[in-house]
Formats: sequence, C-alpha cells, structure tokens
Amino acid sequence: MSRASIRVWADLPQATIAANLYGHFAEHLGRCVYEGIWVGPASRIPNENGLRLDVLAALKQLRAPVVRWPGGCFADDYHWRDGVGPRDTRPKTMNIWWQQTEPNEFGTDEFLRFCRAVGCDPYLCANVGSGTPQEARAWLEYCNFGGDTTLTALRAANGHPAPYGVRHWGVGNENWGCGGGFSPEQYAQEFARFSVYLRAVDPAIELVASGAGMDLANPILMRWNHDFCAAMPHAHLIDHLAMHAYFARGKGAEFHDAEHYALFGDLVTFEREIERADHVLGYFYPHKRVGLIIDEWGVWHPEATVDNGLEQSNTLRDALFAASCLNLFHRHARRIVMANIAQTINVLQCLAITEEDRMALTPTYHVYDMMRPHMGARLLTSEVETPTFEAHPIGLHAKQAVPLLNASASIAGKKVFLSVVNPSLDQPIETPIDLRGAGIAAVSGRVLTSASPRDANTIAAPKTVTPKRVKVEASGGGFTCVLPPCSLTTLTIALA
Ligand code: AHR
Repeated sequence: MSRASIRVWADLPQATIAANLYGHFAEHLGRCVYEGIWVGPASRIPNENGLRLDVLAALKQLRAPVVRWPGGCFADDYHWRDGVGPRDTRPKTMNIWWQQTEPNEFGTDEFLRFCRAVGCDPYLCANVGSGTPQEARAWLEYCNFGGDTTLTALRAANGHPAPYGVRHWGVGNENWGCGGGFSPEQYAQEFARFSVYLRAVDPAIELVASGAGMDLANPILMRWNHDFCAAMPHAHLIDHLAMHAYFARGKGAEFHDAEHYALFGDLVTFEREIERADHVLGYFYPHKRVGLIIDEWGVWHPEATVDNGLEQSNTLRDALFAASCLNLFHRHARRIVMANIAQTINVLQCLAITEEDRMALTPTYHVYDMMRPHMGARLLTSEVETPTFEAHPIGLHAKQAVPLLNASASIAGKKVFLSVVNPSLDQPIETPIDLRGAGIAAVSGRVLTSASPRDANTIAAPKTVTPKRVKVEASGGGFTCVLPPCSLTTLTIALA
C-alpha cells in the first residue's frame, strides 16, 4: 500500500476561512431557477409561495451562506423592473444568452424571499452591458434605501416595506464577453462610473468588479486583471475582484484514466491563477485588502450545451474535484473571500437535480455537507507528504509531478477539522496524521467514495454516492487513516 503523511499544527492558526467560500450561483438558465428553485404557488410540487420545499430544505441543511443571482451572462441583459410587481402583469422577454423565454415570474422580491427562506445572503449582479448606471442605482435604491421615495413605496407595495440590505453588488459579469465586449480599460471606466452612483446610494455595500476568466489561450483574459486594475486607480470604489474558472477533461461520466488525473492536475494551474490575481491585487491596492471572489467555478463537461440547458452528469470525480478546489480556497483564505459554484440546481456542477416533484442530491452536495465545519473556522498550518502523479496542467508548458493527496485543516473552539482528497483510481493510501500543539480527545470521520469515479446519483437511484461514517482510533498526538481510492475523508478531531 502507498503511504503519505499529514502534519497539522493546532496552535498555528492563520486567516479565517470565510463562510462565503461555500456560496452558490443561480442564473436564469435552463432549469436552474424555473423548475429547480421556482415552481410557482399554483404548482402541485410542494412549495412555499412558489419556492420548492425540497430544494429549500436541502440548501438550509448546508447552511448555504450566499447565492449570486441573476447571472452570469443573463445579468447583463436583465432589466430588474421586468421582474417586480404583480406577476400576471410582468412582461415575457427574450433570454438572449440561453435561448429561452423569460417569464419574469421570479424577480427581485422572489429571489430575496428565497434567500430569507434558505437563511443566506443575496449577491446581486447589476447590468452593465446593456444597462445604465441609472437603472443599476435605481435597483439598489429599491432594495436598500430606507427613505421615502417612489421606489421604496413600490417595494412596500410589493410586500417589503423594510429595506432588504443587500450587501454584495457585482458591477457586471464577464464584461470582456457577454457583459458588453469591453476592453479592460473601457470596463475600468464603466466600473468607476457605475460604482460612483451605487456607492452614493448606499455606502455600506461591497462592490465587486468583474475580473478574468480562466481561458489561458485568450491573451486579453490573461492580462485582464492587471490591465483593469492599472486603469482603475480609484481604490475606494473596489471591494472585490471576481474571477471565473471552469474545467473539463473528458466527458462527465465517460473519461479515460489519463483524463481523470488531468482534471486534478489542472488544480496546479488554478492555484497559479489565484496566486497571480493575489499578486495583482496586492500590487495595485497595497493599502487595502481587496478580496478575491471566485463567483463562478466548477466542471463544465462538453455535453452541457445551450441545447440541453447546460445539464450534465455529476459524478464522484466531479465531487472530489470540488472538494480539492475547496481545500485550495481554504489555503488562500487570506485573499479569497467568497466562491460560488456553478450552478445551484440542475445546471452544470449542481448540488441537486430535480424531475417533477422528485429531487436527488449530487455527490457534490455531499462534499458541501461534509466540509462545512471549515466555514468560519481558522485555517491551520498543515503539511502533506504525498506520492505524486504525472500530468500536464492546462496552460503550462510541460508535464509535471502533481501531489496526489490534497488537504486542508482548520480550527474552531476545541475542534480541528481536516479534509483530505485521494483521487487515485486504484491506490488506498495509508496516512499517519500527526497533530502538533494539542492533545486529541476523540476523532470522528466520514468518507465519500463509490465503486467507480463515474458513479452518480440519479432520480431513480439517488443514494448511489453517499457519505459513510468511519471509525478512527487515536492515541497520543496522532492516528492513522487508510484513505480509499477516489475518496474524500473528513475528520473532526476533538481536542483534549
Ligand atoms: O455559468 C454559465 C455561464 O458561464 C455564465 O452565464 C457566464 O458568466 C459564464 O461564461
């Protein structure tokens, strides 16, 4: 059996892992919002004022901290006034990006009600591409202003007299592409123009600029963060920079072994891009901590196309990749303040799939459930000695040895949490875990694995991939785990 080892220093806490790293993204795309979240009050599917109850319960169970809405590309052609007021008078509009009719039944008040019901914060993305600063600032006034204006009276008439207090506002989405086709310099101007007015309406909001996507073949995107920041010197206007990262190696459930490893090899590139963004923000805003938000990320398999509403199978492999990304985000907790996996229900790397009145949780859902003790905990210094595998990470020049195991550790009160991914297709890894700086009272653990990395949960077989409890015997300052092939192991270590 192969061996690795992990050391965790319980007395060397670092940055707080923002709970918002466990955030979500819901766009008006395919069956994410309509069917996935919203079925309407008249539906025979059990719902609370139009919001489906099974999905609400699943997200509540995760303590989902934040949901980004309404897009995505949809956001830069969304006119918020179409989605408020009596539902039967709202216009039907074109959803140009996802080629469907937008009934506007689910608008601002429905989304904010959904957030209340889940217990999460909303993160709204304003329309820069086809909108105006006036429209964006009116939306903010509608949502957050406490004074007496026609817009706040409209909000009251729509059932919500009190301000909603939406804190996070995205100033457009992917503004090099579907968000208006701007150059970084043009977008810097637009960002400043919109932000001046948004900030004036509500100085308490946090403004998110649209940063690069991880398309390494696109020279504009490779320079985007740098060139945008260089052209946007108003440090007081920017609170966060958003980045997008999608990955694909083979198909969802059909991939060769080499493609399996290649996906995990791409974590090397992802980390490099996070570090590049970190350096850019540190350089241009040395006196202010501008947060990095990864507000769209996940696997996007080639079978997910506009024609099928970006639906794809969601396997154990995808879930382990998500767990590895979360480990990566934890290790960069000093800079990353939010991350939103794409997309919550039915679309891309979703957490649940629905069919009529039935719902199945994907393996990725279980990752979020298993790893949520890290939310709001302090990152711990840890060290992993691991076998490696050979891969050619996307965008890099050559093959390299990639660490097989990835892990992160955190502490909250008298508990240490450790999450470890073993993506090996065939190797269980015997791993002594050594806790330094504190004694161990007890250890409990869960493992997510299955017979094949291609396994998924379906409506017909919703429990194929589910976590199981594992027994761990600790003595002194350590214990040994055997990490099964293709697995996520999460451990809770109660300190003596
Ligand atoms: O998540 C699907 C799409 O991917 C989003 O609308 C867009 O922002 C990104 O390109």
